[in-house]
Amino acid sequence: MRKFLGPDKYQQTEDDKRVQHELRALGKLPRHIAVIMDGNGRWAEERGLPRAAGHQAGIASLRDVTRSSRELGIGYLTVYAFSTENWKRPKREVSMLFRLLVKMLRDEMQEMLENGVRLKTIGQTSLLPKGVQEELSDAIERTSKNKGLTLTLALSYSGRWDLIRAMQTIALEVRSGKMSPEDISEEVIRRSLTTAEMPDPDLLVRTSGELRLSNFLLWELAYSEIHVTKTLWPDFRREHLYEAIREYQTRERRFGLTGAQLKKGEDVVSPEHQSYVDKLISRITR
Ligand code: FPP
Repeated sequence: MRKFLGPDKYQQTEDDKRVQHELRALGKLPRHIAVIMDGNGRWAEERGLPRAAGHQAGIASLRDVTRSSRELGIGYLTVYAFSTENWKRPKREVSMLFRLLVKMLRDEMQEMLENGVRLKTIGQTSLLPKGVQEELSDAIERTSKNKGLTLTLALSYSGRWDLIRAMQTIALEVRSGKMSPEDISEEVIRRSLTTAEMPDPDLLVRTSGELRLSNFLLWELAYSEIHVTKTLWPDFRREHLYEAIREYQTRERRFGLTGAQLKKGEDVVSPEHQSYVDKLISRITR
């Protein structure tokens, strides 16, 4: 596996360009990818390191996945960085996570600006320490005009929390007479969620092999394709993302078309082309 070279030595290789080109040519790319970044603790424990080392290493994975998503032209990347349930972790781990978050925002700002990455958050960020809230607001403001990838950090977030919030908003509108209960529709609920301005994720990636949604984007993931990999988040790199997208494209091709389209062979890519791309991906994964 290619080693991550560090923020300064990063280069998009010719193989990267080729794979990205082929992925675009092979089928539809997901517009929105959601990621449950799991396995940081296990990664650290396997190496006899403190859990903090796993979270720290996870930042490099997030950087590489953000870069490659941007290069591919993915519109939205939403990552589960800190769940409502994560507040129950030891205080030291929680405060260390926030310190890492602040460092990450500062370290990555230049690159986000250069690459058109727009930063957003979803979740109850008012519960975060004041200093962290300020750093977040500043980063969101500074990147707000960017038109490339929208990177959304889910912080102090849970799907149920957002659904409760949405229901409360809708209930207030009903009580004030602006809407009747019969008017409540999928569209009304959708636009009351904190994710209102983004399309639903087409693809959910979960690392470290767990087969759970863990209270992430419960409404939005209703029709998403799910890719679970045993790879722990700190080991996850762009090659793994390419694999996830390949799997997504295969599933789309099988299940996304109507029977009539399948008969006509529309949008069906030749097996030779598929295996060529699979070989390319495995070559850069080595
Ligand atoms: C889950 O691994 C991961 C997290 C709780 C945090 C994810 C954070 C990052 C990747 C760093 C970037 C974001 C911030 C907020 C700095 P786990 O600890 O549950 O791993 P385990 O299941 O192996 O214990």
